Amino acid sequence: MCGDMSAGAFEILMIRKFRPSDLQRVYEIEAQSFRDPYHPLFLINLYELYGETFLVAEVDRRVVGYVIARKVNSKGHIIAIAVDPGFRCRGIGRALMLAVEEELKKMGVIELWLEVRASNTRAMRFYRRLGYSEKEVLKGYYNDGEDAVVFKKHIL
Ligand SMILES: CC(C)(COP(=O)(O)OP(=O)(O)OC[C@H]1O[C@@H](n2cnc3c(N)ncnc32)[C@H](O)[C@@H]1OP(=O)(O)O)[C@@H](O)C(=O)NCCC(=O)NCCS
Repeated sequence: MCGDMSAGAFEILMIRKFRPSDLQRVYEIEAQSFRDPYHPLFLINLYELYGETFLVAEVDRRVVGYVIARKVNSKGHIIAIAVDPGFRCRGIGRALMLAVEEELKKMGVIELWLEVRASNTRAMRFYRRLGYSEKEVLKGYYNDGEDAVVFKKHIL
């Protein structure tokens, strides 16, 4: 949790679209953030399919976070978001979410959804603060049998 962590200052935060040359950094952050990280080939596949909504955050020209989303009819699905552990609690995750929501909105999306591991209380708190609310539980959704909690948000 963020709590009493003091966030260090950084020079410039930039949110931009993912480029294939970001793959190594994105995979590093993915591997530091999830116990079942996406394979780099899968990340490239997501870029090929959803390049408009695969964004990275850069601090002082270094990639420190990313978000991947996709549009399904009028709905937007947040596939993944992660921030380098050394750069959390500074508003970077929030900035990534707001940027991808804006991109999806431009594409005609009116509702967003995402799944979170039932044990990931930090992420759930993060999404609630961004206006998402819990809608349902998907029993045994993950490979290891953990439940997923589905969160939704309207962005009309
Ligand atoms: C979830 C995650 C993406 C959030 O990223 P983040 O950059 O830390 O998020 P933010 O800094 O925008 O917000 C997190 C918290 O920092 C706080 N915060 C933001 N700026 C801050 C600052 N300058 N000083 C102190 N706290 C700050 C926010 O208020 C928020 O507080 P909360 O814990 O009360 O919600 C990040 O924790 C992560 O990568 N987790 C691992 C991967 C993961 O679980 N992804 C989601 C899977 S569904």
